[in-house]
Amino acid sequence: MAPKSLLFFFSTLILLLPVSLQSYKPSAAHTELTEYGFPIGLLPSSVRSYSINKTSGDFHVDLGGSCKITLPPDNYLATYSKRITGKIVSGRIAELDGIRVRALFKWWSITGIRSTGEDLVFEVGMVTAKYPSKNFDETPACEGKHSAS
Ligand SMILES: *[C@@H]1O[C@H](CO)[C@@H](O)[C@H](O)[C@H]1NC(C)=O
Repeated sequence: MAPKSLLFFFSTLILLLPVSLQSYKPSAAHTELTEYGFPIGLLPSSVRSYSINKTSGDFHVDLGGSCKITLPPDNYLATYSKRITGKIVSGRIAELDGIRVRALFKWWSITGIRSTGEDLVFEVGMVTAKYPSKNFDETPACEGKHSAS
């Protein structure tokens, strides 16, 4: 490459770099989630802060505000409260509070989530629903004007 085109190459790279960094920036909470065997797509991008007790697994996640998301692949409408709480150990989230899903004309609280690696098993009380984990590989953005991401 001639020096001039090399310069062009690098200045293009520098211009593009911040954009690509912005488009993929999982929060510490998202990274933490993967360390417990869960995909980042379980949490919206609007995470403000979180805390976890590594001994008991008790955690809370604070979002910028309540949040509405359409979940793949069946387009269930889900809502996230401003604060999500629960208990997490490897492959299992229990005592979950703050995530609700609309199905069969009702709102259901998701009480727990298990991860087998391949699949996620959502628990709604005694009822479970299984989905491939790869459907949750991307962090969803909150929908609507209250998203406050
Ligand atoms: C974390 O959990 C353990 C076990 O339940 C408890 O003894 C400890 O006080 C907790 N730590 C904090 C900072 O809450």
